[in-house]
Amino acid sequence: MQEILDDIVATIGSSTERGRVADYIPELAGVNPQQFGICVATVDGQLFSAGHSQQLFSIQSISKVFSLTVALGKLGDGVWKWVGREPSGDPFNSIVQLEHEHGKPRNPFINAGAIAISDAILMKHLPREALAEILSFVRFIADDESICFDDKVAKSELETGERNRALAHFMAAYGIIKNPVDYVLGTYFHHCAIAMNCQQLARAGLFLAGDGRNPVTGVRVVSASRARRINSLMLMCGHYDGSGEFAFRVGLPGKSGVGGGILAIAPGHASIAVWSPGLDDVGNSKLGSQALERLVMKTGWSIFA
Ligand code: DON
Repeated sequence: MQEILDDIVATIGSSTERGRVADYIPELAGVNPQQFGICVATVDGQLFSAGHSQQLFSIQSISKVFSLTVALGKLGDGVWKWVGREPSGDPFNSIVQLEHEHGKPRNPFINAGAIAISDAILMKHLPREALAEILSFVRFIADDESICFDDKVAKSELETGERNRALAHFMAAYGIIKNPVDYVLGTYFHHCAIAMNCQQLARAGLFLAGDGRNPVTGVRVVSASRARRINSLMLMCGHYDGSGEFAFRVGLPGKSGVGGGILAIAPGHASIAVWSPGLDDVGNSKLGSQALERLVMKTGWSIFA
């Protein structure tokens, strides 16, 4: 495994075609695109890393997997009143589908869907209480108390997030969002601004590789059927309008973020985190996707194998 990762860093990690760093959140625009890190946490407790695997980055939309898991823990199937579970085929920040579908987002991973999930978690609590719950869940699954929000990134998105504000108000008009929009967005922007490195992120995903149980600590996080369902949503919706291409090329459930990270799950084998800040045209890490394609080619970990 270490040889595979070193090869990935030497080949894909040094590519000159690195995509473009997200700049609509000003704080992310300044991230150096030359960085590349990867970590594989295997279900038998080994951790393999290469490149900038200890460098913190903004996990952004990858956090939507964690907020969905928290919401499912609180509300069970009640979550599906807020969001659907169909791929959208639209960009992550699209508003078009919402009008056709009466304000109910297609799935929990597009922005509208994750904003609705923040509303579901809030349930009349204050944003800081909801955020404490999400952060302590992430620290628990990663077994790492040092994980924190990057307040500068959250503030930067709060100042420039007009489009997300529009999505939230639109859903409030349909009664999907019930808490004050500012509370909902404060919660959403902050959980997107959690900073993690590849090693922490790979560890955090292990419960999804272990049928809901962290295979290293032995602690059950969710039921086996819930883990399978979360994985299926990641496969179908985790890369927005690039989800089909990711499933075709990589063949693993995965969730991307505009910070350039991807969390991919090889059920029964490993949890994989890769980070390269440059994005492709649909907003997914360009080299991250290529790295996962190569890793799966070498390991045979495709879920379709
Ligand atoms: O709402 C936003 O725009 C960001 N906080 C998250 C977007 C994101 O990561 C999309 N993923 N590729």
